[in-house]
Amino acid sequence: MRLEDELRELRARFDAALERAADPKHLDEVRVSFLGRSGEVTTVRRGIGKLPGDERPSAGKTINDVVASMEAALGEREGALQRARFETSLSESIDVTFPAPPSPLGSLHPIRIVTNDLCGYFERHGFAVVLGPEIEPDYYNFDALNIPADHPAREGFDSFYLTEHLLLRPHTSPMQIRTMEDYPPPVAVVVPGKCYRRDAVDARHSYMFHQIEGLLVAKDVHFGHLKGTLTGMCRKLFGPDQAVRFRPSYFPFTEPSAEVDTTCPRCRGAGGPCRMCSGSGWIELGGSGMVHPNVLQQMEYDPDIYSGWAFGFGIERLALVRYDIDDIRRLFENQPEFLAQFS
Ligand code: PHE
Repeated sequence: MRLEDELRELRARFDAALERAADPKHLDEVRVSFLGRSGEVTTVRRGIGKLPGDERPSAGKTINDVVASMEAALGEREGALQRARFETSLSESIDVTFPAPPSPLGSLHPIRIVTNDLCGYFERHGFAVVLGPEIEPDYYNFDALNIPADHPAREGFDSFYLTEHLLLRPHTSPMQIRTMEDYPPPVAVVVPGKCYRRDAVDARHSYMFHQIEGLLVAKDVHFGHLKGTLTGMCRKLFGPDQAVRFRPSYFPFTEPSAEVDTTCPRCRGAGGPCRMCSGSGWIELGGSGMVHPNVLQQMEYDPDIYSGWAFGFGIERLALVRYDIDDIRRLFENQPEFLAQFS
């Protein structure tokens, strides 16, 4: 038989043996019987000696090539068997069909829930939800809101100043100015967001808190619209029987100004020993009023044509009342057990 035919036949038997070898021991037997010292390839190699001298080098090379490819095939088969063994061992020790334990999901923070509900209510009434910067120049925080540098009302805002004229906003009212600066009337926006004041932390106060600002400026807007809008808001948050009342107040950027109260949802206005409203039957939401003509004028809104109202409420306060939480600090500690109660 010619050398090539001999090798082809040998290779076919080798491949078949490889295919049958199902474990390392069999694989080794195949290796020894074909490639070992007294294996079949060695026998073929010995035959080279009988060839004419000039054919020997090329015959040697042919055999070497076949040996190299057989060794590669052996390695491959070994790898495949190893992988198969690994997978079998996995599926013996791990049940891959077993359902994974559920990963715990987070829940919405009460501040977020109340903010979403408020924004949803106002969006349905045609207001745009806008956000503003937490670092503002004093111009937006005070000057443009009719609070000049020497005005005592600045004191009440107990602000954190970053530089001489830059501060962490103590209220969301600067966005009234930015809105009127950027858009001609009519405008209707609400602005939820963080505010900062130099307040000592206790059950009711925190140096960081959230407000929601509302601003509506258009023709023929009056206080009655404000009361109707806020009554709807309180009913959405606290239930269908909520009432809203105004108490006279003072803010430099509104005239007239009012504090807004709503029925205490805990005692339903009965007062008495109620600890949530301290017996008054009412809960204070924050400030409001008709936008001061000076502010409108500065924003180049003609106060003879346009009028508007604004309000600014603390969102923590709304959340504490809604969920009957007794201490504002609970809202910032973020204990998972506490947060998991809300969804
Ligand atoms: N910005 C005021 C505050 O934080 C609240 C307010 C807003 C009052 C809008 C009137 C109009 O105290």
